[in-house]
Amino acid sequence: MANKKSYNRGYVILIAAIAAFGGLLFGFDTGVISGALLLIKDDPALMINGMEQLPERTQEWIVSITVLGAAVGALGSGRITDILGRKKVLIITAFIFAVGSIGLAIAGSVTELIVWRLIIGIAIGVASYTVPLYISEVSPTHARGALVSINQLAITVGIFTSYLVDLGFANFEEGWRWMFLVGLVPSLILGIGMFFLPDTPRWLMSHKGEDRARRVLDKVGETNKEEVLQQIKTNIQKEGQQQGSLNIFTSKWVRPALIIGVGIMIFQQFVGINTIIYYSPTIFEMAGFGAESANAVYDAILPSLPIGAVNVIFTVVSIYLVDRWGRKPLLYLGLIGMVIALVALAIGFTFHGTLGGDALKWISFVSMIIYIPFFAISLGPIAWLLISEVYPTKIRGLGMSIATMVNWGANFAVANTFLSLGKATTGQMPNPAGEGMLVNPGGAFFIYAAIGILALIFVYSYIPETKGHSLEKIEEHFLAGKHPRDL
Ligand code: BGC
Repeated sequence: MANKKSYNRGYVILIAAIAAFGGLLFGFDTGVISGALLLIKDDPALMINGMEQLPERTQEWIVSITVLGAAVGALGSGRITDILGRKKVLIITAFIFAVGSIGLAIAGSVTELIVWRLIIGIAIGVASYTVPLYISEVSPTHARGALVSINQLAITVGIFTSYLVDLGFANFEEGWRWMFLVGLVPSLILGIGMFFLPDTPRWLMSHKGEDRARRVLDKVGETNKEEVLQQIKTNIQKEGQQQGSLNIFTSKWVRPALIIGVGIMIFQQFVGINTIIYYSPTIFEMAGFGAESANAVYDAILPSLPIGAVNVIFTVVSIYLVDRWGRKPLLYLGLIGMVIALVALAIGFTFHGTLGGDALKWISFVSMIIYIPFFAISLGPIAWLLISEVYPTKIRGLGMSIATMVNWGANFAVANTFLSLGKATTGQMPNPAGEGMLVNPGGAFFIYAAIGILALIFVYSYIPETKGHSLEKIEEHFLAGKHPRDL
């Protein structure tokens, strides 16, 4: 049993913290658009043919092209991480983030904006799997859960920071340019920082030999160094014996890992998290939070702040608990809480007509403020953690990139159908703030709640408890053809 105190804690935390700037950029660049868009859509410099506002379709493209780009980035670079190594890929990604931030800030037309958003999206996709991969491979076993979850913390800090930055520049002329430009700072920290960090022992072993791998294990102070080295070696050999080239789709023993990775990512998105992260101002508006002031942009961004803050705080709680309680108890607790909050939201909206006064306002606010911490202690960090744990070394890059691509694809599917799903199921309702009709999202929340229940069944019956097991041990379990739940 490893001595918990004896690894090189300061150094390992430094490694995780620098790599996590990739996660911060993921959060920042997905969050920043919510506020930036409010200025972009009315910016005279971007209008053509005398239009006064960008058409909604164009706005949707500016937002969603990034999510699509992320899906492409996640898939396309799967192999690249295995070929070039995790470190080099992160340095290249930082460079793309930096160039993209500048490109966005000086974009002269909508087309340029969309192209740069696509490029940033690709970088987000690459970062979203390379960072957890990198951290999990350099972490000592017993601290791996917490260290990998630093990435999720960074994502939430990135989202929160983007809301703050949006707020700060909301009243500037062409403030959106500054909002995007701020992304340059974390890009530089990531790129320069990674330059000084090592690649991972597991990648080094299969590409540069044992000595290089041993040196890194020395540096991080892995207490079971020889054992870990031996295990990495044995697993690489065993994988080689299993087949000529390991095929992720046809190798039977890899299939459970594939199902876990893809399944947990679908559930992470299909419980509707990003309807709240991306649409909270819209949902608040539907519930009757009218912004009747001269400072409309500022007022529209403001209510996102408590959501962003609670998200950060409870991710910290999860980091504290994940290696103590384990992954599965947190998933159960989180999913139960999310389902309750979603049902409350669904009932509130569906029966809004029979509720008096401000009831819907408060039901929606309270439900959303409850939903977020339950997501943040469970599916938020743990989905990313699990996909960094369950794949065998040799195809970890590819396996994680498939799961990550599924995550972005599912994200796109939800974010892109939220309003129409509500409209198709519970129709429309009068705009609480005045004239016109708004979509009633009640039905969509019912569907997300039902998916939450399916997720509970999936976690119970299929997810392994990876707490306290080395990556090599987990791999051995799958190699032996045992059921994931029996780990
Ligand atoms: C998810 C993102 C989400 C974020 C919210 C991440 O784990 O993958 O889609 O926006 O959590 O904190």
